[in-house]
Amino acid sequence: MIHNQVLVAPSLLSANFLDLRKEVELINISEADYLHIDVMDGHFVPNISIGFPLIEQVATISQKPLDVHLMVEKPEQYFDFLFEIGVEMISIHVEDNIHHHLLVQKLQHNNVKAGLVLNPFTPVELIYDNLPYIDYVLIMSVNPGFGGQKFLPFSINKVQKLHDFIEKEGLNCLIEIDGGINLENAKKLIASGVDILVAGTSIFKAHNPLEVIKEMKKLAK
Ligand code: DX5
Ligand code: ZN
Repeated sequence: MIHNQVLVAPSLLSANFLDLRKEVELINISEADYLHIDVMDGHFVPNISIGFPLIEQVATISQKPLDVHLMVEKPEQYFDFLFEIGVEMISIHVEDNIHHHLLVQKLQHNNVKAGLVLNPFTPVELIYDNLPYIDYVLIMSVNPGFGGQKFLPFSINKVQKLHDFIEKEGLNCLIEIDGGINLENAKKLIASGVDILVAGTSIFKAHNPLEVIKEMKKLAK
């Protein structure tokens, strides 16, 4: 994943589900790089969002590669569905399983980019040993489970710390951030080392989502 621009992944959770085709087609014609899809099971997080029958249909019309964020217990139960659908990226939380490396290998053997996700209060140091083996880290900047929450400002320090370590070790791992991201806080986050911005509310609830994506892409790296 070589790039010299920030990558943008609109989060489908904030789309108008009554007009889903229109929303996916809007992202298709945008400058976005991925379509971020949140999967929740009501156990790992206290909410239920988008299931596999829906993702399968979205995949048939999305021209953007799918970036699937699994907020579920036993995420490996769902890997085969996602391999079948053909998604580009899958991220799993580190809080609910101890066999990170095994799951990462499963994803990569199936040509899927593998990410590990950290909740806001999970320390970044926890995954330092995994960094040489994964494609990206997703830092949650809100408590996972709901769109539309306020960005937790200390996430910037987590990004910086992780970025410094990745640089120091000369690794290729990318940093993605998710939760309360908008045009105001994105600039500082990119300066701190973020490669991929996930944004739900600030894109889908905007008057002109295409323009917001365009502005995000313009932010200097
Ligand atoms: C929250 C999800 C996010 C969410 C972001 O648990 O992981 O992807 O959709 O939404 P905003 O950008 O509204 O915080
Ligand atoms: Zn997400």
